[in-house]
Amino acid sequence: MTVEMSVMISTEEIQAKVKQLGELINAHYAQSEKELVLIGLLRGSVIFMADLCRCIAKPHELDFMTVSSYGRSTVSSGEVKILKDLDGEIRGKDVLVVEDIIDSGNTLSKVLEVLKTRGPNSIELCTLVSKPSRREIDLDVRFLGFEVEDRFIVGYGLDYDQKYRHLPFIGEIGL
Ligand code: IMP
Ligand code: MG
Repeated sequence: MTVEMSVMISTEEIQAKVKQLGELINAHYAQSEKELVLIGLLRGSVIFMADLCRCIAKPHELDFMTVSSYGRSTVSSGEVKILKDLDGEIRGKDVLVVEDIIDSGNTLSKVLEVLKTRGPNSIELCTLVSKPSRREIDLDVRFLGFEVEDRFIVGYGLDYDQKYRHLPFIGEIGL
C-alpha cells in the first residue's frame, strides 16, 4: 500500500523546539527544591519524552502511564481507565505530564484529576503538539510546542494504527 506523506514539521524544527522547551522547563523548576518527575502517557509521548528529558538539567525521574478513554456514548462517559499505572509515588513532587498531542483534551483532563488526588506539590502540562480547534475541555498547558490545524498527523511518536511513530519528523498522511 502506498501512502501519501507530506512533512508538516521538520526534524530540525522539532529539535529546536524541544531544546527551547527544555530551557523553559529548566527556568521554571530552577527554584523548586521538590523532586521533579516527568510522566509520559504511553505510547505516543515516548519519543518526545526521550529527547525532552535530555534537555532538562535538573535531576528527575521518568515514569509512565497507559490510559484508555471510554467512548462518550458509554455509561462511563468521560472516565479514563488506567491500564498501566505509575511505578512510583508522586506525593510532594513537582509533576510534569508530557504528551505528544492534545486533541479534545478529554483524556488529559481525567488523568490530571487522578494525579491531583495523589498529593503532588505541583502539576504542569507539556505537549509537543496541540490542536486548539478540537478542544472540548479547557486545559492550562504551561509548555507548548506547536499548534496545528485539525489535520491527522503522524511521526515523532504519533501513530496511525500503531505505525509511523518512528518517523523523525511530523507528517500528514492522506487517508
Ligand atoms: P484527546 O485530547 O483526549 O482527544 O486525545 C488525544 C490523543 O488522541 C493523543 O494522545 C493521540 O493518541 C490521539 N491523537 C489525536 N490527534 C492525533 C493525530 O493527529 N495523530 C495521531 N494521534 C492523534
Ligand atoms: Mg496519546
